[in-house]
Amino acid sequence: MTVRFAVVGTPGDRRVALFRAAVLARGLAEPSLVSWRDVLAGREIGAPAGALLRIDSPGEDAESDALLRGPGDPARVGGGASWYAAFTKGLARVAAIPGVELLGDVGEIAVMFDKRSCHAVLDRAGVPVPPAFPAGSYDELRERMAERGWARVFVKPAHGSSASGVVAFQAHAGRVKAVTSAAWLDGVLRNSLKLRAYEDEEGVRALVDALAPDGLHVERWFPKASIDGRAYDLRVVTVAGTPTHAVVRVGRGPMTNLHLGGERGDLDVVRSRPALWTRVLDACAGAAACFPGSLATGVDVMVGADLRSVAVAEVNAFGDLLPGLGDLSGNERDTYAEQVKAVIDGHARRRGQP
Ligand SMILES: Nc1ncnc2c1ncn2[C@@H]1O[C@H](COP(=O)(O)OP(=O)(O)O)[C@@H](O)[C@H]1O
Ligand SMILES: [Mg+2]
Repeated sequence: MTVRFAVVGTPGDRRVALFRAAVLARGLAEPSLVSWRDVLAGREIGAPAGALLRIDSPGEDAESDALLRGPGDPARVGGGASWYAAFTKGLARVAAIPGVELLGDVGEIAVMFDKRSCHAVLDRAGVPVPPAFPAGSYDELRERMAERGWARVFVKPAHGSSASGVVAFQAHAGRVKAVTSAAWLDGVLRNSLKLRAYEDEEGVRALVDALAPDGLHVERWFPKASIDGRAYDLRVVTVAGTPTHAVVRVGRGPMTNLHLGGERGDLDVVRSRPALWTRVLDACAGAAACFPGSLATGVDVMVGADLRSVAVAEVNAFGDLLPGLGDLSGNERDTYAEQVKAVIDGHARRRGQP
């Protein structure tokens, strides 16, 4: 039996192109594409019999976004609850495609896209995570922070990604400060590519209360290690349970997401410390073990300012878009080549070959 891939993605998306290139580089047949637009619009979908079906992100596609969140400015913040309901419905349609073998577990993908569930799963498995609570309003946020004696937290929309609506919040001695990339424009909260600080309490309340209806996951602020005064974390990709690729992301503010001005840093700041590096890899392998049905995961893992502690901020189901990044073993396989190899090796093993 030859290996035949299919991909759920968006036509023209970079992820689809990179995966396709990795498949063709192994001399395998052109992967067929199942469009997220068709999945979400309820149109007929299918894939060749026996295909191994990779589920990837819809990407930054306005048409899919409108099907997921409803019509509106794709740059607006919010709508996470509608997005999630439509997305999980789409996943169920994908899981029902007859005759294919899924390379991702749709239930696991759904957990990874709910920061509250994902955090709970990691915590139960003993993976280090910052302590957390859910909140439904600004007042509840303040109440629960006060109960715990926490002055600094990260407020995250439960179904957010790419730092959309994430707020780094602190309250000291009657003063508040909220740092976020969300900004009001004509009465609509939108993602900007710039972090800004809000220091008036009514403004912060309006911001948090606008985000709250989609569900908020609040974590204690984990003091991150820094390079030249700039906090960093790592994105580690695991393939078949093993950490295979890692980048250091050095932030311009409390968030390190690359589109907010974060930059790739020198991995040696972590890798040259064997005990710390082992802790990072163990946390990521532990996180991946919570999602055994997922061929790849993208773990956002933070290193503490003490250069000892580590904590996982989130696990991304579609966190493998790191173009041109070679693997940790030095074989110069990118994240896509690594996954194609893992599938081929796994298939060979299942068929009793070496
Ligand atoms: N508890 C935390 N303490 C400190 N920094 C955090 C915490 N949680 C997240 N961050 C920072 O904020 C960024 C965005 O958070 P993350 O959970 O990855 O959400 P997103 O899905 O928006 O990327 C992370 O990359 C990390 O640098
Ligand atoms: Mg992240």
